[in-house]
Amino acid sequence: MLLNWLERAAVNNPLRSALQRRVGAKKLIRLGGTQATGRVLEIGCGRGVGADIALSDFGATSVDAFDLDPRMVKQAKCYLNKHGDKAHVWVGDASAISAPDSTYDAVLDFAIIHHVPEWRLAVREIQRVLKPGGYFYGEEVLRAFIDHPIARRLFMHPQNDRFDAAEFTNELESVGFKVIGKEELWGLVTWVAARKL
Ligand SMILES: C[S@@+](CC[C@H](N)C(=O)[O-])C[C@H]1O[C@@H](n2cnc3c(N)ncnc32)[C@H](O)[C@@H]1O
Repeated sequence: MLLNWLERAAVNNPLRSALQRRVGAKKLIRLGGTQATGRVLEIGCGRGVGADIALSDFGATSVDAFDLDPRMVKQAKCYLNKHGDKAHVWVGDASAISAPDSTYDAVLDFAIIHHVPEWRLAVREIQRVLKPGGYFYGEEVLRAFIDHPIARRLFMHPQNDRFDAAEFTNELESVGFKVIGKEELWGLVTWVAARKL
């Protein structure tokens, strides 16, 4: 689901980039190590900061990234231009990832799966495109946030079948991941590192 104007403004600004780099990425590295080396995919890349983090902080050799919103893809292409042919960005859907099975060494998810109506499909797709032994790093927004009356007023999220932290990690494990690290903040946000068995 596309973001409304308010959430687009909230993610396309320097404060979000700083939080993503200094909090989100650091937590994910602490939970799972810098295993996002080799060929990395970022789903729902927004303006491209996560893909930049993959190359600079995780040490990826190349990064593919996609987003459902063509405006975000345009911004990400511009933002990642400095990396030349190490970064490739396209318009795509996390519930039907346009990549063959076992393509990537790692997949990064910075706050996008909660935007996918059929979020379990996205989890399955991530598992499919990862190589055996590949790593998933996810920062996700939980049901308690989405259900909050203020968030319901301000943002536009799918409302049915959202997840809490346990349901998210259970789903990962049910499709063939081993969760290697997880953290939760006030039941609102979770950070997870997992490895495909
Ligand atoms: C909350 S924003 C996060 C953007 C960026 N990852 C960040 O952390 O700043 C969620 C992003 O997911 C994208 N998105 C929503 N549904 C999607 C889907 N089904 N497939 C791919 N991207 C999607 C939105 O367009 C938006 O850019």
